[in-house]
Formats: sequence, C-alpha cells, structure tokens
Amino acid sequence: MEDEDLLSTAREAIERSYAPYSEYYVGAAIESSDGTVFTGCNIENANYSNSIHAEELAIAKAVSEGNRSFERIAVSSDRRDGVTPCGMCRQTLSEFCGPELRIICEGDEGVTRYTLGELLPNTIAKGHLE
Ligand code: THU
Ligand code: ZN
Repeated sequence: MEDEDLLSTAREAIERSYAPYSEYYVGAAIESSDGTVFTGCNIENANYSNSIHAEELAIAKAVSEGNRSFERIAVSSDRRDGVTPCGMCRQTLSEFCGPELRIICEGDEGVTRYTLGELLPNTIAKGHLE
C-alpha cells in the first residue's frame, strides 16, 4: 500500500466524523505491521472533554483487535490544512510505536511526512516507570 492509499483511507474516515461542536472533521488510518489498516474519526461530546480524537480511536481499535506493532499512520481533516496529531495523540501513539513511526499528513499544498520522533522527542515511556 502506498502512502497515498493510506491517506485516502483516512480521508474516507472523515465522512464518519461526528464533530458538531468544532465542525473540524478528522480522519485517521493506522497500518499494523501485518498490513491491516484500522481507521478512526473524531467523535465529540456535549461535555466537550469526552471527545475522542481520530488517531486515538484508530490505535484503540487496532490494539483492541490484538495489534501492537505499527508502520504508518495517515491523518487528514476536511479542511486539508495539514492537521498533525495533537500532543495527547502523539503520546498515545508512542506507547506502541517507536520514534521511526511514519506520520503522513494531508494539507492543501500536498502531503507532509514526519516521524513520531520528530513530533515528540524525549517522550515518557514504559521504561521510565520500571
Ligand atoms: N482532533 C483530532 O481528532 N485529532 C487531533 O489530534 C487533533 C484534534 C479533533 C478533536 C476535536 O474533535 C477537533 O479535532 C477540534 O480540536
Ligand atoms: Zn489528538
């Protein structure tokens, strides 16, 4: 699967986003090492704080289905503004993904690629608590 295919899967997930408060619709698609792809979209709540982020849902679906090793994640918003995973999502990704995880983001001008290590250096990890 090409990066562009993973991105278009993320884009499709935007259609299922429930974001009546922010009206900022996000989709994500994470690829596990066996090639399975899990999608997520943001799901907001009237109390605001219970809102679920697209990346958070994608990785939760994957982990809950027995996947703990990932190659890439693609993220897109309907504004095509180059949305990147927020700080919370970066930390959530870092629980299962190393700094080499590839993060593919879609903007108006095209695609920007990052690694998790670039977006979240010196993360707190399991090893710190042992
Ligand atoms: N959002 C995500 O789904 N992922 C991110 O990492 C950035 C923010 C959602 C949360 C909220 O529903 C909306 O975008 C505005 O912040
Ligand atoms: Zn987030």
